Amino acid sequence: MRDFFQYKAGELHCENVSLRQLVKKFGSPLYVYSEADFSHQVKRFQKSLSNVPHTLFYAVKANSNLSLLKKLKALGTGVDLVSYGELFRAKKAGFSYEKMVLSGVGKTKEELRKALKLPLHSINVESAAEFKLILELVKGMKSKRKPKIAFRFNPDVNPKTHPYISTGLKENKFGLNRDEILDVLKKNPFSQSITVTGISVHIGSQIESLKPFSEAIERCLELVDELEKKFQLKIQTLDLGGGIAIPYTGDEKITIEAYGEMVRKYFGPNGKYPQRFHLGFEPGRRIIGSSGVLVTEVLFRKSRKEKEFLVLDAGMNDLLRPSLYESFHEIVPMKEAQLRGKLMNTDVVGPVCESSDRFARDRKLSKNLDSGDYLVILDAGAYGMSMASTYNSRPKVAEVLVSGKNSKLVRRRETLNDLIREELV
Ligand code: LLP
Repeated sequence: MRDFFQYKAGELHCENVSLRQLVKKFGSPLYVYSEADFSHQVKRFQKSLSNVPHTLFYAVKANSNLSLLKKLKALGTGVDLVSYGELFRAKKAGFSYEKMVLSGVGKTKEELRKALKLPLHSINVESAAEFKLILELVKGMKSKRKPKIAFRFNPDVNPKTHPYISTGLKENKFGLNRDEILDVLKKNPFSQSITVTGISVHIGSQIESLKPFSEAIERCLELVDELEKKFQLKIQTLDLGGGIAIPYTGDEKITIEAYGEMVRKYFGPNGKYPQRFHLGFEPGRRIIGSSGVLVTEVLFRKSRKEKEFLVLDAGMNDLLRPSLYESFHEIVPMKEAQLRGKLMNTDVVGPVCESSDRFARDRKLSKNLDSGDYLVILDAGAYGMSMASTYNSRPKVAEVLVSGKNSKLVRRRETLNDLIREELV
């Protein structure tokens, strides 16, 4: 099981709260988050990076629930944002602008115009055209404060992850490569209007080895050296992005501590570049992924000669990852007794009218599971609710935050009226 999701008295609990009690009270399907879990992950980061100057910018896209954001703020994190909508949320949750970085490969003119007026930690520029647009927009502004700009660098490093979540290869749309950065700085006088403060790099997500991270750091250091020599810049910040994997299969390939040790080899007190940069980190999944589960009811068992199915009340619209990336999520019964006994290969599917609406294929699950039983999909805290939709006109599910023996509804279940609220007839 997981640290904060354990069987107690035969039933799966989140911390000290029984998941059965929660579905009884709040209905199914239901996202449930453990505060102790994400607090623990944040503290692990803080501890293993304690002797390098840094800010932890939680990647809001992983899970943007306001209550979770507030808790993360209280733990001392900043935020990594990719849209003005995320910025709006982060501000509502109480984050200061100084603790926000704004990335995004396609920021609109309006988003940039607004963001440039704010004292953000940095705006991470992802193309030459965006850089030019920023210079143009700043020209028209009265503010005396020069916006802080970082280049999102595409280092052409293979993160060896699912192609859909690889971002640091030259064929990926993200960031600028070395030549593009040098070229844009050469061609555009910038020092009057903005300050180029840093380099940011994010090469992908669910990365299971340290090597791509250290390769990216090496490339960044080469680039910093070149930029400082050629343009008399002082690169103060190095934002190393997110991407650290979580152990979906229960086996942790890289730990936060090992990642911290790798970082310290470069930037720690005894590293090659002690105190040289203020570092940034943008973990999303590693902070919130293991803290969330999706609780779902079995609607029907369907037995065929060729296949055994369990049809759930949760679907791909609630948790898209398995359908989109064929990603693995462990699925466990709410009742401990159903872990044992005769198991059979089962396809676990949702009710949505798509064959890809499948959470697991040929998963060994109890033969006794049937209508009215509950299953729990683990490690659904990151890119679960934040990627949910109302496809098939299915109202979005509720979210509950557990802390010790307390639980709190942090997003109410959508109603049928919510589905049509924005429509004009
Ligand atoms: N920083 C930037 C600029 C990013 O684009 C991302 C994720 C992160 C940080 C956070 O990465 P993390 O630490 O969470 O790996 N929906 C996919 C993941 C997409 C990640 C996109 N960018 C999934 O469910 O696997």
